[in-house]
Amino acid sequence: MARLGSKRKGQRPFPRRREARSGWVSRSVLTTAVLVATSAFAADAIDPNALKRLVHQDCGSCHGLSLKGGLGPDLRSDTLQHYDPDVLTGVILDGIPDTAMPPWRPLISEEEAEWIARYLLEQEAQ
Ligand code: HEC
Repeated sequence: MARLGSKRKGQRPFPRRREARSGWVSRSVLTTAVLVATSAFAADAIDPNALKRLVHQDCGSCHGLSLKGGLGPDLRSDTLQHYDPDVLTGVILDGIPDTAMPPWRPLISEEEAEWIARYLLEQEAQ
């Protein structure tokens, strides 16, 4: 039995070498992807027009296109005045547990969430 086992081990070098080679390829692809992502973020950390679009289209899909409320509540500045900008940023990043308000942390940076919070608080009444 022991000899059979060691014979089988002796047959493995080929597949192992293949694994090693594909591991090298995926590591270099990963490194490239990380570098591209990092430089994309560094190039423009905040894009106000993209964030305005996100607020009116994505947030608006629940909060109403003019943010007056829908499935989610009214997001106009008058109704959000009780929020400290930091707390509002936290609501945007982490959502409201057990409700339909989703966390946005997977999609936007903390700086972008802070920008959106200030944008919502400073909007003119519509
Ligand atoms: C899938 C639907 C949905 C989307 C998309 C969504 N929300 Fe909400 N949001 C809700 C719901 C529902 C609530 C109310 C939760 C509750 O019952 O307290 C809420 C609550 C909030 C509140 C708290 C309001 C208050 O008066 O306390 C804020 C602020 C908010 N959302 C901001 C945003 C922003 C900013 C976005 C976009 C980045 C967004 N939401 C996207 C559904 C959504």
